[in-house]
Amino acid sequence: MSILDKHGIIERNATLLLVLSFLVVTIGGLVEIVPLFYLQNTIEDVQGVRPYTPLELAGRQIYIREGCYVCHSQMIRPMRDEVERYGHYSLAAESKYDHPFQWGSKRTGPDLARVGGKYSDAWHVDHLSNPQAVVPESIMPKYPYLATTPITADYIGEQMWANQVVGVPYTADEMANAKADFEAQADPTKDSSGLLARYGKVDVANFDGKPELTEMDALIAYLQVLGTMVDFSTFTPVASR
Ligand code: HEC
Repeated sequence: MSILDKHGIIERNATLLLVLSFLVVTIGGLVEIVPLFYLQNTIEDVQGVRPYTPLELAGRQIYIREGCYVCHSQMIRPMRDEVERYGHYSLAAESKYDHPFQWGSKRTGPDLARVGGKYSDAWHVDHLSNPQAVVPESIMPKYPYLATTPITADYIGEQMWANQVVGVPYTADEMANAKADFEAQADPTKDSSGLLARYGKVDVANFDGKPELTEMDALIAYLQVLGTMVDFSTFTPVASR
């Protein structure tokens, strides 16, 4: 009886085939998945990565609401062309407080994972209001209404709470001061010492350049923090330590 004949027995017995297939897939699955629990760099904690401030979190909600992820990814892959164009490849830890993550799957526009600090706040106001005024060949839609739509901190506590439920470690102090921190980040004339004490490195600015607090302020606060939390001049991956 050749090996193929023996295999014929399995092929003709549906239950046996099912049981053996299940066994093979289980072993294959274990071999692929179990090592991930022991690899340090899949669960690596990276210095500098912090939860979003209330204003950045509100901006992130606008980013999602407007569907920016439909045209923009936020994940720089570890390949030379990507790294030369966008900067250091994205680390898993950099999106650990993103619920849901914004990696995206399509790049009609450039990757935004490290757009923070690349342009001035005023550039973002001009670009979001009318992209073609800044980049004539752009096909990005205009979002001028963001600059005229006021935003309040009324629901920021609930949004932070929702993030807390899925694992973002907002402290009791951060929760209690959510509204004050929200307003302080967009108004350099206010006292932002509490905000800085709670979150560390935070960009405090009148992002849209206008006195009112608008959705534009929140969205730009979010864009300007993207990819800036980790200091790559001091970062060494676990694998090469
Ligand atoms: C229809 C696709 C599309 C959508 C939707 C879109 N963009 Fe863009 N975006 C582009 C394209 C194309 C470019 C490149 C040309 C340009 O700079 O305008 C771009 C460029 C950008 C840049 C400059 C990136 C760089 O590194 O130069 C930023 C920032 C940006 N978009 C933010 C946003 C935000 C925020 C939203 C949502 C409010 C958004 N985009 C929605 C297509 C899109």
